[in-house]
Amino acid sequence: MTTEKYFKGDVFHTPTDGKLEFLEDALIQIDSSGIITKVTKKGDIDYQSACEHADNVITLSKGACFLPGFVDLHVHAPQWPQAGIALDEPLNVWLDECTFPLEAKYADTAFAQTVYEDLVAQLLARGTTTVLYFATIHLEASFLLAKICVEKGQRGLVGKVVMDDSQANPDFYRDASTDAALQETEAFIQAVQGLAESAHQGVYPVVTPRFVPSCTDEGLAGLGALAQKYDVHVQTHCSEGQWEHDFVQERFGKTDTEVLKDFGLLKEKAVMAHSNFISPKDGDLFIEAGAAVAHCPISNAYFANSVIPIKRLKDQGVTIGLGTDISGGFSPSLYDNIKQAVMSSRMLEDGVDVRIEQSDRGVPDSRISVVDAFSLATKGGGDALRLPIGVIKEGYAFDVQVIDSQCKDNPLPDFGVFTTPEARLQKILYLATMQNIRQVWVQGKKVHEK
Ligand code: GUN
Ligand code: FE
Repeated sequence: MTTEKYFKGDVFHTPTDGKLEFLEDALIQIDSSGIITKVTKKGDIDYQSACEHADNVITLSKGACFLPGFVDLHVHAPQWPQAGIALDEPLNVWLDECTFPLEAKYADTAFAQTVYEDLVAQLLARGTTTVLYFATIHLEASFLLAKICVEKGQRGLVGKVVMDDSQANPDFYRDASTDAALQETEAFIQAVQGLAESAHQGVYPVVTPRFVPSCTDEGLAGLGALAQKYDVHVQTHCSEGQWEHDFVQERFGKTDTEVLKDFGLLKEKAVMAHSNFISPKDGDLFIEAGAAVAHCPISNAYFANSVIPIKRLKDQGVTIGLGTDISGGFSPSLYDNIKQAVMSSRMLEDGVDVRIEQSDRGVPDSRISVVDAFSLATKGGGDALRLPIGVIKEGYAFDVQVIDSQCKDNPLPDFGVFTTPEARLQKILYLATMQNIRQVWVQGKKVHEK
């Protein structure tokens, strides 16, 4: 009995950063564990015979195509009920008055179950196949989120959040003590690694200090040691806004990046949300450590007090992916964040204040293209997490979204004018909605269908 499966259709992806590759009517072969074993392109000498010999083929209809599933590098799962709420407040007020009271509710696992099941389904329906999640300080509800990812077929990387400084956090929402925070983090790592044994698409524990201001020195050092001991992923917020950047500088006399490095938290498989204020020297520390930036452009428009120079950091060699930052970012869609990443970069390049001469108004050479942003949402995410995802090629997981550009509810007609592959992808990235996302597959399993 054959265990292979085949898929046939047009493919858009960026196997090299920012460089679009279009494969017309490619034949994609996957094995029984959902890994791509071969991609045969029209024009390859064995294309005709490969197509004739393939059985079990799922062939896309005219006007449909495969995109890699999106990788969301920064989601606060418990904040899903808060999406779109109180965004007029500065970050610290928003956190204290809205977010922390909400996150405290996840002591109740029934509430957690309702929210987390909805969120995971909503993200899958928007083409997001892998997510790096902050949960809350609660061990039980954090583990529940990992279980829900496994059940729904999403590749989840989940962290129990640590906020162990009793001076910095409200009594109603903080770890009982530094020791308790570290013990629970270790128990969480072990529990998720146990769960991973039966998770087809993988599930991963993540060491998750909320951010430097909410943790003690002992807490940060202990988390760095755990990250090393178990060789697991790390996530936190780094130099997000002016307040955080200045706070860390005052407390340690160093940048956020330097502090995270000193505590052993800037490492391979570490993803630092935002990182808007990092200097070129900090960028070098990211590169040396193998750490990555999660760029969250919608959230940054509200809370960052700045626009991150993505182009400069990318040119420097920093690994960067994209995040929604639900709910600092109101949208659960990486499509929306792709657009915002492009728009923010354009505003950085041109500048915004017309009282300043045009020649001095912006930051030259800052813009990124929509293909660059698509690349961040796919390959960039895979590179950041050090997982074989985000590209449709041999050895990678078959994580895809099937986009239908001719669906009744939101057709994307080109009127026979803009028919090049580049134009077709641009139209999808700018105009596709959930209606166009026909199917979503994670590691060879269908996890969403419209
Ligand atoms: N910094 C610390 N916690 C948070 C959070 O929940 N959201 C954002 N955007 N920044 C943070
Ligand atoms: Fe965040």
